[in-house]
Amino acid sequence: RTRVYTLSLCLSLSLCLSLSRSRYLSVCVQTVEDINPIPKMISKLSHSLRSVAPALTRAVHSGTRPASTAASKLKMDQPLTAEEVYAREEKYGAHNYHPLPVALEKGKGLYVWDVEGNRYYDFLSAYSAVNQGHCHPKIIAALNAQASRLTLTSRAFYNDILGAYEQYITTLFGYDKVLPMNTGVEGGETACKLARKWAYTVKGVPKNQAKIIFANGNFWGRTMAAISSSTDPSSYEDFGPFMPGFGLIPYNDIPALEKALQDPNVAAFMVEPIQGEAGVVVPDPGYLTTVRQLCTQNNVLFIADEVQTGLARTGRRLAVDHEEVRPDIVILGKALSGGVYPVSAVLCDDEVMLTIKPGEHGSTYGGNPLACGVAMAALEVLEEEKLAENAEKMGQLLRSELSKLPKEIVPIVRGKGLLNAIVIKETKDYDAWRVCMRLRDNGLLAKPTHGDIIRLAPPLIIKDHEVRECADIIQRTIMSF
Ligand SMILES: Cc1ncc(COP(=O)(O)O)c(C=O)c1O
Repeated sequence: RTRVYTLSLCLSLSLCLSLSRSRYLSVCVQTVEDINPIPKMISKLSHSLRSVAPALTRAVHSGTRPASTAASKLKMDQPLTAEEVYAREEKYGAHNYHPLPVALEKGKGLYVWDVEGNRYYDFLSAYSAVNQGHCHPKIIAALNAQASRLTLTSRAFYNDILGAYEQYITTLFGYDKVLPMNTGVEGGETACKLARKWAYTVKGVPKNQAKIIFANGNFWGRTMAAISSSTDPSSYEDFGPFMPGFGLIPYNDIPALEKALQDPNVAAFMVEPIQGEAGVVVPDPGYLTTVRQLCTQNNVLFIADEVQTGLARTGRRLAVDHEEVRPDIVILGKALSGGVYPVSAVLCDDEVMLTIKPGEHGSTYGGNPLACGVAMAALEVLEEEKLAENAEKMGQLLRSELSKLPKEIVPIVRGKGLLNAIVIKETKDYDAWRVCMRLRDNGLLAKPTHGDIIRLAPPLIIKDHEVRECADIIQRTIMSF
């Protein structure tokens, strides 16, 4: 391997030397590496090689790897300015996000700090993954303890912590069984697979005819299945063909659900108790209760996607607890690890869960020992620190403070617990993005969703005086336009 690298490096060097200087420069882009000549040289070298002799690049492909690894390592050793952080991500990362320009390097509790040492209130909480606050000491201790004992066995063998976690989480939420996965979207996929399997093996739906109904505006991730149920063109456009067997009805529309469930092939209705990504859309009181009734009447599974709303975010352990309804399947993710590790879970009873047999579903990392240790600690923190109760109280305070904002600029304040949003009435002088930029300058981080909506979702550990201080920052920012 070393010989291949050496050979390819020599080839690259000789090729570049043979290029005219003007040609050489024209294929090189200005980057943050200009500060450090060594990575720049390596980058130029590999860039030249790629653009001049694509066939040769393919032939010596392995030769370019050590160069790029060395380049990033060299750069990692030096502190970067925010601009350099943006430029490096722009250059080496896919452009599938549009981050607010702030380069973070540290988090603790409610706060995050940027590379220049500025401190911010985090009002996004990594889309509700950091409910327990950044780097919660108990969760980090569990991570460290388990990391130095046993991290991954795969499910090919038993381990001594998976069962303890399974017992803990099923007892806490009152379901027979849990199926552990990693990301929220895998939780959604798992729920859909369980629903289809149940439809064929228990309900008696004819082979390959099962349907799952979703609500317009839903968001449950970015896989092919998730985007196949999406009504947001930026999720699905140019990614077809899509998964069959999915149906859509308007959110918060009981007559539409009643009609959809008349189809005997419907296996499940999958819904968020509050639509988070759609802009914190809260359904009418009683909606979830009627969803439960209709699903029961029609022998259809009620799947609650609690990936964002669950785990104390809305002021209850689960958002469905506000109406005391029990879904057939609950999907959890995000805060199940307090933001330190991807952990998701699907909870349901035996009638549904045991339809899936060995070898029919799984994931190498799903339920790994590290995830189990972290998830138990994350759940314990929610309970011990009574974060649902705090979210309920602080949410009421936040909304009452935000409702004092001028109605001509902020006509709508909505939410439950600490999952809240304000709607910004756009003018030529301001819009949600510009408000978020100025909030950043005033020490509070939030992100617009759907153009005119700003989600306000701090970690659930926030205290009374901090809510007031943040409401004051938001007030001052809005009034500064
Ligand atoms: C309600 C809901 N479900 C599922 C997901 C997907 O979670 P992940 O990004 O971890 O796959 C999200 C992500 O925002 C979500 O809000």
